[in-house]
This record gives sequence, structure tokens and C-alpha cells, in this order.
Amino acid sequence: MFSIERIPDCEGSTIKLGVVEEGYTAPWPVMAEQSIRVLNLKFNSNDIILAGYAKSGTHWVWEILSMLLKGRAEPAQSTKEMLMFSFGTQEGFDEIPSPRIFNSHAHYSGMPYVLRPNVCKAKIVYLLRNPKDVCVSFYHHLRCAKDFDYHGSWNGFYSLFIQGKLPGGSWFDHIVGWQEAIESTTDSPILPVFYEDLKQNCTYQIKRMSEFLGFNYNNDFFEEIAEKCKLENMKANDQKLKKQYPIHTSEDGNNFIFRKGIVGDWKNWFTVSQNEEFDQITQKRLRGTNVKFQYSIDDKQNFQN
Ligand code: A3P
Repeated sequence: MFSIERIPDCEGSTIKLGVVEEGYTAPWPVMAEQSIRVLNLKFNSNDIILAGYAKSGTHWVWEILSMLLKGRAEPAQSTKEMLMFSFGTQEGFDEIPSPRIFNSHAHYSGMPYVLRPNVCKAKIVYLLRNPKDVCVSFYHHLRCAKDFDYHGSWNGFYSLFIQGKLPGGSWFDHIVGWQEAIESTTDSPILPVFYEDLKQNCTYQIKRMSEFLGFNYNNDFFEEIAEKCKLENMKANDQKLKKQYPIHTSEDGNNFIFRKGIVGDWKNWFTVSQNEEFDQITQKRLRGTNVKFQYSIDDKQNFQN
């Protein structure tokens, strides 16, 4: 069962969500029904999956993976949405030859059944970003993308985030579910990659992903990819693709995918009390997992995983 609902924030502004089941919402309102079909999608073991909660930098990493797969540091001629589980159909995906780079913002439990361990060994790159920057980035995204019909304030949005009443559901549940999957399987082909690490040493993270995927390239190529995938270069390429794929730009011309691209923008938005409350919630909700996040680029005490 699924339904399109208007969910109020703490100030009464509403957001339009596709509710799949209690506590789980689709990444896009009209995609609620598709989220159920996603579970039965089939693909091949040599396909690559990019998973991560929305606003974690998935467009950036998808572009990096595309270049690694092609063996050339050339920008993609289509957008990652073409290979997003929740945007396509089995028939449409079958027309694209493997290996393909599928991507999804779904919780682990919302991923296709074939990804369960020992069924399909497709390798998964799992992208994470500190939740305060995710929250701010998602706020801008949802106010720009008209399908969600959200016009609330920062305070209102903050209340939705901590309750997990958002497209794709709760960030906290997303992390817990994926961490359980990573930590419970010894031969799990899942590589965690952190946005903050990419910001600090993109070339090294590209090398890690390349080795994980079994490619054999040299450092010059990783540096070339890091350069081509800098925010300003990706933004410029997106401008070119905009006519064909207008989904990244709001009606007033703002690009809500390639925005600031920094670590620590949350400091411009969180109040002191929101920050304290958020830390407590994060600590409580992630208790039992080994995951740690960096909230600013020099935040070395949190730099572990
Ligand atoms: P901000 O809104 O904080 O700027 P996603 O692709 O998962 O929707 O994530 C979008 C976020 O990743 C945005 O964050 C965007 O600016 C950032 N991003 C996209 N490409 C990037 C790049 N090449 N370098 C750094 N950040 C990037």
C-alpha cells in the first residue's frame, strides 16, 4: 500500500511525501509505487551500485565511478537519475548493457532482494556524509524542487529531519540499517566512502574505489578524475545537460544539486540548542554502530571508521 500525503512540520508548513509504509517514504512523491517494484529488480554481478542517503554527494561519486568505468576522465552525457532504481523499470534497465552504475537513496531494507548477501555479488559503494550538512543541503533541495511543495522555514525543516519525515525516510534509520548490513556480513562487497574524506583527499578516495572495483589505473588518472569532478566543473557540465534533463534546476534557475559543496555549512544554520539536541539524538540513534562523522574539515577526533 502507498499514498501521497501532506506531512506538517512543527510550524504547520506541509511537505508532500509518497508514503510507502509506516515510517518509510519514497525518494520522490510519485515514486511510492515504484519503491515497491524496486525490491524485485534484477541485475548482474558486474554492475556497480552507489547507495547513500540523499544529499550525501551522490552526483559527485556517480560521476567519479562513471569515469572509472569508462577509463576516461570525460563527463557523463546523461544524469545519474537515468540509472536510479526508483526512476526506472526492469525493461528500461535491461536495454542498457552491463556494467552499469545503478544508484539509490533507499534504506538497506528497500534495496532489491537480489542484493542480499550470497545472491548477487554486485559491488556497492556506500556514501556517507555528516548529518548536519545533509540536513542543510536537503533543506535547500526540498525548498527548490517543486514536486515536494515545501515552503517551510529552517526551524520547521529541522523538525522534519529529526523525525525522519522526509523523502527516503529517516537519515538515522538509513545509517543504522546499512551499518548493520556492513557489520553483519564478513564477505560483504560494500565499500563505505565519506564525503568529508573526498573533500580532504579526493585522489586517494578515487584510488580506494578503483581498487575495490578491481580496476588497474595509475595515480595520474585518479588526479585527472579528481580535477574533472571538482564542483565548478560538474556544475558547468550540468548546465549543458540542463536542456535535456531539467530536473536539477528550480523554476527560478537555482541549481539545487551543485550548491556550496563544503564541509561545515551547518554552522550557518543550526542554533546552539538545535546543535546540542542534534548531538544527543545522533549519539542515541547511532549507539551500537561503529560509524563516526566529521563535522568540520579539521575535526580530527571524529576521523575514524
Ligand atoms: P550542498 O547542498 O551542501 O552544497 P547529492 O548529489 O547526493 O544530491 O548531494 C548534493 C550535495 O553534494 C550538495 O551539497 C552539493 O553541492 C554537493 N556536491 C555535488 N558535487 C560536488 C563536488 N563535485 N564536490 C563537492 N561537493 C559536491
